[in-house]
Amino acid sequence: MSHRSTAAAVRMRAVVIGGSGQLGGWLLRVLAERNHDAWGTFATTAFPGLVPLDAANQAASAAWVRDQKADVVFYPAGFTWVDGCERDPGKARAANVEQPLNLARAAAEVGARFVYFSTDYVFDGHNGPYAESAEPRPLSIYGQAKLEAEQVLAETLGDLLLIARTTWVYGPERQGKNFAYQLAKTLREGRALPCPSDQVSTPSYGPDVAQAIVRLIEQGRSGLIHVAGPDLIDRVTFARSLAEAFGLNSQLIQAKTTAELGQGAPRPLNSGLLTPRLDAWLPGLMRPLSECLLDFQLKLDEPGGWVRPLTAT
Ligand SMILES: NC(=O)c1ccc[n+]([C@@H]2O[C@H](COP(=O)([O-])OP(=O)(O)OC[C@H]3O[C@@H](n4cnc5c(N)ncnc54)[C@H](OP(=O)(O)O)[C@@H]3O)[C@@H](O)[C@H]2O)c1
Repeated sequence: MSHRSTAAAVRMRAVVIGGSGQLGGWLLRVLAERNHDAWGTFATTAFPGLVPLDAANQAASAAWVRDQKADVVFYPAGFTWVDGCERDPGKARAANVEQPLNLARAAAEVGARFVYFSTDYVFDGHNGPYAESAEPRPLSIYGQAKLEAEQVLAETLGDLLLIARTTWVYGPERQGKNFAYQLAKTLREGRALPCPSDQVSTPSYGPDVAQAIVRLIEQGRSGLIHVAGPDLIDRVTFARSLAEAFGLNSQLIQAKTTAELGQGAPRPLNSGLLTPRLDAWLPGLMRPLSECLLDFQLKLDEPGGWVRPLTAT
């Protein structure tokens, strides 16, 4: 597919805050493949080549961002644990609003563009899937913080800002934390995995999300865009698809309602993201789940330092 050819027309200097994370790792990889000059940071989990940076240390991290003289600063960082945010709203707001705003201002001071990562948890899940034009109404502290960040960043940065909302990100990872890994560990150990059958969304393959966002930046896009996979499915169907792809026992997946599960933060139920802008600008880039699951397995055999779901401890 033409979208996946490797050279970009103009070489960018790109910084990834949170390069040790799931999407951050993929952004660094895609940027390098496309011949951009890219480097990234970690907060607590070091990987070769990453620079330590704690966004909570506002003065030092802003100085570092200014010093990089980047063309674009990607921010796939923050406090991403939804139930943890519910328990600690102060930390949720600091990490998901105040710290990115501080670094967005630093980026703007040197004329760099800024990419913020948001979520379908800005919606209430009453009538998804949602296009960019839909009215947000977050149910959780995490969703509220993400929406506040979207708004304050847009007011502050204008056209320097791209906000990419995504959802249910999965795929090979260097930290091995995403749902696919949690599922593989649980089923491999022969334990039951309760899953909410009434939560619906659009699972998004990390490598494709990163590919899309880098392409959008290359195209000079700004504003709000949804970047998500094309399949609208419930969590049990998603879990079963992952189990089958990894040859694990899908009988151990137990369908429960969200009410039965009692998760710490409220979840949008009928959620998911429609991608009209992405479909117009990069048609066909987000591959269907079935194709992504094959790619997931193939990528584990490539260099990249991926944790292997079937052997992770
Ligand atoms: N994953 C999803 O399903 C999903 C869905 C919707 C939206 N999003 C959004 O997409 C973005 C990326 O998600 P992800 O799943 O890739 O997240 P992730 O794997 O949890 O990675 C988070 C990154 O943030 C870094 N970080 C944490 N605290 C930091 C601090 N104080 N200073 C600097 N960096 C810090 C982490 O560094 P260390 O690991 O080194 O501590 C890590 O690199 C997030 O903004 C998330 O809200 C994700």
